[in-house]
Amino acid sequence: MSVVALVPAAGRGERLGAGVPKALVEVGGEPLLVHAVRGLWRSGCVQQVVVAAPRSEVDVVTAALASVGAAVHVVIGGAERSESVKLALDAALEIVPDAEVVLVHDAARAFTPPGLTASVVAAVRAGAPAVIPALPVADTIKQVDADGVVRATPDRATLRAVQTPQGFAVDVLRRAHEAALADGVAATDDAGLVERIGIPVHTVLGHADAMKVTTPFDLTVAGALLAARSPAVEGQA
Ligand code: CTP
Ligand code: MG
Repeated sequence: MSVVALVPAAGRGERLGAGVPKALVEVGGEPLLVHAVRGLWRSGCVQQVVVAAPRSEVDVVTAALASVGAAVHVVIGGAERSESVKLALDAALEIVPDAEVVLVHDAARAFTPPGLTASVVAAVRAGAPAVIPALPVADTIKQVDADGVVRATPDRATLRAVQTPQGFAVDVLRRAHEAALADGVAATDDAGLVERIGIPVHTVLGHADAMKVTTPFDLTVAGALLAARSPAVEGQA
């Protein structure tokens, strides 16, 4: 059963404010995207990777990924994350027409343990149409209105913070994106698009290391995560 991973990496990284696209920001001397693709490849269960890169950075991204030794294709991403995913998915359906499982993984979640990727793939292989890594939330979460006034306090025990890689039966993700496009819906979460078409989304336990680099604080955390990994440990988590 062939597995293709889509890596949206075409964002500008405005909240990080590094002056270059976030996927190219370096940690430990290598871009976040390189760490992310290496982690996917080290899971041992991905056969092809399709990266959506910023239009101006396709050559830079292609060159940077050569060191990973993975089967990688680079396509031009879109203005919204969901557009980048759709463009990568369209390319993947042409490049790997027999793929049965598709993963969507943020370049910004660069230090996701390969073992988490393997557990998502295993759950899809076991028959779940959609699988996402999820963690219990530590903070109490409030729902507020446009003025910042609290409207509700959902029971924390029922809440989860979700991560990537998200795994899908290929046809499920294709249908979800086609429906979103037809309805003019954009989302930062592919599983949300699958929910919209009435397909159940299952969870597996996420991992703290799969945190998304969004702000300068997160970049400091990512540097610490990498420094804490010895070469022997990396790839086995
Ligand atoms: N992404 C993408 N195409 C876009 C927007 C985002 O491929 N048009 C990717 C990003 O490169 C990132 C992932 O989606 O790997 C998650 O998005 P986010 O963390 O929001 O990254 P950015 O959009 O780059 O950051 P910001 O929102 O701060 O500008
Ligand atoms: Mg964004």
